[in-house]
Amino acid sequence: MCGIVGAVSERNVVPILLEGLQRLEYRGYDSAGLVVGHGGQLERVRSIGRVADLASKCANTSGLIGIAHTRWATHGVPSERNAHPHISKNHVAVVHNGIIENYEILRSRLDAEGYEFTSDTDTEVIAHLINSHYARGNSLLSATQAALAELVGAYAIGVIASDNPDHMICARRGSPLLLGIGIEEHFIASDVSALLPVTRRFVHLEEGDVVEIGRSGYQIYDAESSRVEREIQISELSNESVQLGAYRHYMQKEIHEQPQALADTLESVCNSQSLVPGIFGAEAAQTFAETGSILILACGTSYHAGLVARYWLEEIAGIRCTVEVASEYRYRVSVAEPKTLVVVVSQSGETADTQAALNHAKKNGHDHTLAICNVAESALVRLCKLRMLTRAGPEIGVASTKAFTTQLAALFMLTLVMSKQRGRLSAEQEQKHLHELRHLPAAVQKVLDLEPQIAKLAEQFAGKHHALFLGRGLHYPIALEGALKLKEISYIHAEAYPAGELKHGPLALVDKDMPVISVAPNDALLEKLKSNLQEVRARGGELYVFADAHTHISEADGIHIMQMPEHAGYLSPILHTIPLQLLAYYVALQKGTDVDKPRNLAKSVTVE
Ligand code: M6R
Repeated sequence: MCGIVGAVSERNVVPILLEGLQRLEYRGYDSAGLVVGHGGQLERVRSIGRVADLASKCANTSGLIGIAHTRWATHGVPSERNAHPHISKNHVAVVHNGIIENYEILRSRLDAEGYEFTSDTDTEVIAHLINSHYARGNSLLSATQAALAELVGAYAIGVIASDNPDHMICARRGSPLLLGIGIEEHFIASDVSALLPVTRRFVHLEEGDVVEIGRSGYQIYDAESSRVEREIQISELSNESVQLGAYRHYMQKEIHEQPQALADTLESVCNSQSLVPGIFGAEAAQTFAETGSILILACGTSYHAGLVARYWLEEIAGIRCTVEVASEYRYRVSVAEPKTLVVVVSQSGETADTQAALNHAKKNGHDHTLAICNVAESALVRLCKLRMLTRAGPEIGVASTKAFTTQLAALFMLTLVMSKQRGRLSAEQEQKHLHELRHLPAAVQKVLDLEPQIAKLAEQFAGKHHALFLGRGLHYPIALEGALKLKEISYIHAEAYPAGELKHGPLALVDKDMPVISVAPNDALLEKLKSNLQEVRARGGELYVFADAHTHISEADGIHIMQMPEHAGYLSPILHTIPLQLLAYYVALQKGTDVDKPRNLAKSVTVE
């Protein structure tokens, strides 16, 4: 989704803006632009394509104040005229992330007032609207506040004006934006990573905040326009943690970071002798004691994590659990079960649909809420009473990898805590699970060692157009996740089915050109799965089986086996995810796609 960077400084801000945009590239975008103020003028440079293309056009551009943007098209095709910043009458420039829902009404009104529109975007409305208030003698701050009061929708914006070289205004509601604090310079950005080369001191803005930012200071106003103080936080992220290092792609780096990410996420339980609800927040013990069922809301990969958790929560903790795609739940009329704990799962904590689903749940009367999230300062974490932070570190590749396995680890901890609280976990079982969790990072490392074999296997997929993924039980969501990974980065059409469903339709698709990838853990459903695999083989389907030790599935004509280590019990879905991530990665390499920034996709989906 769109990325924003802004700076007001005593030095030329163009290199800061360009570096910031480059660091936000992972969010997904199709065009980029910046505007700087100097000598009472605004100078704008825009470009379709990569930030590098924009940079090459900026050789002679400089200024002490500026705002910049990477655009992910919503209103209007990707083109230079639709790229941000948008400027009203050479006077007011705006960058925007979000969607303005009432832009058509506002556009007609501003049209009638003589404002000329040069793009198809909703954002241009904001520039003209602020300018119309500014032209009436308001300060840039008041003009922005007045304009924002007229907007319906979501926004994070940065604003500068040609006749105000010393102040930048920013505001957020529904889309992420933070303030970076420097010495005699200040910055804005969509996330911390954009500003790490210039500062580690940040203010995370609240919903409805509007900020007037100068070189030596800033004032924050809340949604009611009252002056407020917000805490300055020091980011723990190091600059290196968002660098590629020796890896070819962020996705590859992030796949390999999983042992460490899991060890970090599990630190609180692995260093202790017993499981306590407190790891989810101070009020967790009380809330969990009152919980009668669980509703998990999430999107994409995070939704798949929720689907795995349903098996765990019902089987181990004996608690009823439903899992819903957030974009569906938010518009569905549902019957709220009293005593339900609503769990939102998200890497970014900014996904618009998940936020809206959470708000919808709250409106439905659910007030027990828990966020499982990778970004401590994100909207979802702030909106929930309870929290468990996954400690995957920054995930830059659009395809979610380490965020997923750490979400699973967090959801497994939730299962164990719930189970213990409900008297379903003996002391002996608790110790056994803790032992397995401590061993998990090493077990994941062992699976990562299969990388060369999987790279070789991937060569057989490059020419394929379709693929079918099969799993059963706990591993059906892993098949879904494997298919999602393959389709999003290699553009091969991939579908996942619970293996028992094959004969109810998808078997018709199976022939020699349809690779069928199966997750084959050595669990209670193994024999059933083997029969399903026979059904595929009997129709000439080519099978690729990720099989645990002792499954006794042998390599044969049309059956390729990738030998996994010992079966890992309830934690097996985490291990079986790894080879599917690697397979997708190496197939994408074969196909030469843009692995970290697949076409049409964005990392943080901050619009509906
Ligand atoms: O940040 P979130 O976890 O809320 O994001 C949800 C999905 O957009 C995300 O998981 C998406 O499906 C990934 N690109 C899949 O790899």
